[in-house]
Amino acid sequence: MKRKDNAAEELNWQEESGHFLSVRDLVVEYTAAGEVIHAVNGVSFDLERGETLGLVGETGAGKTTIAKAILRILPDPPAKVRSGSILLNGVDLFQISERDMRKVRGEKISMIFQDPMTALNPVMTVGDQIAEAIQLHHKDYTAKEVTLRACEMLEKVGIPASRYSDYPHQFSGGMKQRVVIAMSLACNPLLILADEPTTALDVTIQAQVLDMMKALREEQNTSMILITHDLGVVAETCDKVAVVYAGKIIEMGSREEIFDDPRHPYTLGLFGSLPTLTGDEIRLHPIDGMPPNPADLPEGCSFHPRCGKSCEACRKQDQAPELQLISGTHYVRCLDQGVKEVKS
Ligand SMILES: Nc1ncnc2c1ncn2[C@@H]1O[C@H](COP(=O)(O)OP(=O)(O)OP(=O)(O)O)[C@@H](O)[C@H]1O
Ligand SMILES: [Mg+2]
Repeated sequence: MKRKDNAAEELNWQEESGHFLSVRDLVVEYTAAGEVIHAVNGVSFDLERGETLGLVGETGAGKTTIAKAILRILPDPPAKVRSGSILLNGVDLFQISERDMRKVRGEKISMIFQDPMTALNPVMTVGDQIAEAIQLHHKDYTAKEVTLRACEMLEKVGIPASRYSDYPHQFSGGMKQRVVIAMSLACNPLLILADEPTTALDVTIQAQVLDMMKALREEQNTSMILITHDLGVVAETCDKVAVVYAGKIIEMGSREEIFDDPRHPYTLGLFGSLPTLTGDEIRLHPIDGMPPNPADLPEGCSFHPRCGKSCEACRKQDQAPELQLISGTHYVRCLDQGVKEVKS
């Protein structure tokens, strides 16, 4: 029996157990300089096999913290998961041992960070690093097959196989990121957590890498959580979108529901104007005002100080809006569920 199946057995892996990934009521705090930073404040979402979820929101919204919580790599201290559960194929990742979690990290979930050096070993050739990842997952491959596959992965991300024996410092930032992506893809994970994976890449390579990730998803039914500031990438790549503000999902739905019918004033602000899936320039739009201080969040709706539509009720703590289903799979966290206005 292959190693993968053993791990699955040990983890009591159930292929058919409801949602593929289920994040429920996740609350994460950091303690820094005697202050409690409320980074993630009750996040819940589901993801199915083969689906890509885009996590969007301003800097400091809590996106990276959500991804690191799923992988259980938050540094404690300063981070503390206060509550919540994360079920992967029915297995609660917060309940399994660190040993089992290491298997999940190696075989089920891989994360691509914004900074490629987080994942690269500076004293090992890039080819060998990819080969190592392949070897781990294909015990049956001969050394020659492993090298061939590593060369293939390099070429796939647009790096000539002739650079196999180069070290990370001989590569540009964008090339290093492509090596990291090749390593992640070589592992055939079930779930990829991609945190701004293409931000450092130029547009042509970005498109190639995204196409490659899409092909993998179709080939292997890989699920992905894609964290990005680039709404164009979300429109291109994601099936579902969750908009995060001050550690909460304030709007969530299918790509079409969010792009064709955004409701929350914050989402509308991000889009800058009513976007369309056919529009070519869709970037996050700066919104007036500052994101709230996560150590001192406003009462009621966290967005109310910046919201042109806020009313007295939005400022009341006991009226903090819940995420409500408004139609289909479209959820909005706003007291004024029907809110929608065309911004100039
Ligand atoms: N190690 C840490 N110690 C203290 N506070 C932290 C730490 N990491 C993150 N935070 C705080 O937690 C909040 C959420 O941070 P996070 O990195 O998850 O945001 P993000 O949405 O990924 O932002 P960005 O788009 O800039 O990457 C921020 O207020 C941030 O300052
Ligand atoms: Mg981040």
